Amino acid sequence: MFAVHSADPSHRPTPHPPPPRDRLAVVAVGLLLAISTAPNSGAAPDPGPTWKAVAPILARGCVECHGREEQGAGLRLDRRADLLGEVRGKPVVVPGDPEAGRLIPAVTGAIRFKKAKLNQEHRLPDESVAQLRAWIAAGAR
Ligand code: HEC
Repeated sequence: MFAVHSADPSHRPTPHPPPPRDRLAVVAVGLLLAISTAPNSGAAPDPGPTWKAVAPILARGCVECHGREEQGAGLRLDRRADLLGEVRGKPVVVPGDPEAGRLIPAVTGAIRFKKAKLNQEHRLPDESVAQLRAWIAAGAR
């Protein structure tokens, strides 16, 4: 039924050292494996945008009413520490959870302001909202 000859070790050909080209290939594959499995190899994971990247978005669109001169709702948006604080008893930004604070709802239109004009004044382009979300998701650092 089964071919049993090959199971007999005495019938195996004596191993020869592989020719140099093959050995090189073996070394190359070994190196690749070593590199790909080594801890902390390759590029570090993207740490996401930092305050430095998002501050200009707020400076352009928000700080005229939420800065040193004026503080709509008592809120300043020109200092990271204030974004980690509260507005009207609710967190402005919850690091790691973009939808939990008041910042993102304010700029997406999810918060309806009584003064119609304020609704327009709070909207940011999708691109900027995405950046702010990414900053918060990455820990608001
Ligand atoms: C023209 C002035 C003006 C601009 C520009 C402005 N705000 Fe405001 N903002 C206000 C005022 C006034 C309030 C309080 C409005 C109210 O609730 O009656 C407010 C409220 C807020 C609140 C609190 C919402 C709540 O009820 O919890 C947040 C958050 C906020 N603004 C964020 C922003 C952000 C982010 C920007 C920039 C995209 C911005 N604002 C631009 C005037 C402004």
